[in-house]
Amino acid sequence: MALGDLYTNVQLLLRWLHVIAGITWIGHLYFFNFVNVPLQGVLDDATKKVVNPKLMPRALWWFRWGAMITFLAGLILFTLTYMYTPGQGFGPNQLFRNADGLTGRAVWILFGMLLGFIMWFNVWMIIWPTQKKLLSGQVPADQIAAARKKAGFFSRVNTYLSGPMLFGMLAPAHYGAVNPLTLVAATALGSIAIWHSISVSSKVGTSV
Ligand code: HEM
Repeated sequence: MALGDLYTNVQLLLRWLHVIAGITWIGHLYFFNFVNVPLQGVLDDATKKVVNPKLMPRALWWFRWGAMITFLAGLILFTLTYMYTPGQGFGPNQLFRNADGLTGRAVWILFGMLLGFIMWFNVWMIIWPTQKKLLSGQVPADQIAAARKKAGFFSRVNTYLSGPMLFGMLAPAHYGAVNPLTLVAATALGSIAIWHSISVSSKVGTSV
């Protein structure tokens, strides 16, 4: 690719930003679900009171801003990749639809983006507002357990969605073709990988 090709270079830069922010987001999501949930189960209350107020705000900062940058960079990347043709301007291009309708590539990315959007929504509209109230002591004592349960449930949902979501991110450029069976297989495989990681998380890495 020519260094002077602005479209290609901007797209590469956005792709990089999108993926590095995605790693930051999902890395923290996995830290919460695979490491911190089992860890909290074995810490005593006194230790939790010292560790959590210092750990959680930091981890939640990287988590939620990683989610926001991933989402925004992803939307711009989508517009440039599927809704723009250099020299012609904005509008669905051939990667998005052809004479037969939506392309396989478009179906994959719409699948991935739908799951990614649900995950972003859960972070910014449910998990973070709930955690913020918990960490700043705004939740009445009798509602703390329910608030923790709510944040934990949506964090688990996001962890499960991340498996199939990543197939939806990778398949457009590296696989392309789509049929209902591949979508079902990607969803099943992604979810099983997450289920397995959660199942072993309380047992692995407990000693060197
Ligand atoms: C939050 C909503 C998200 C949106 C709107 C979005 C959007 C996109 C778009 C439009 C592409 C380009 C697809 C193509 O080239 O045809 C893409 C690729 C990709 N996305 Fe996302 N994405 C989201 C979430 C995520 C997350 C959470 C991750 C986690 C790491 C991620 C990782 C990737 C990867 C690895 C690629 C492939 C890059 C490549 O092969 O060139 N995305 N995404």
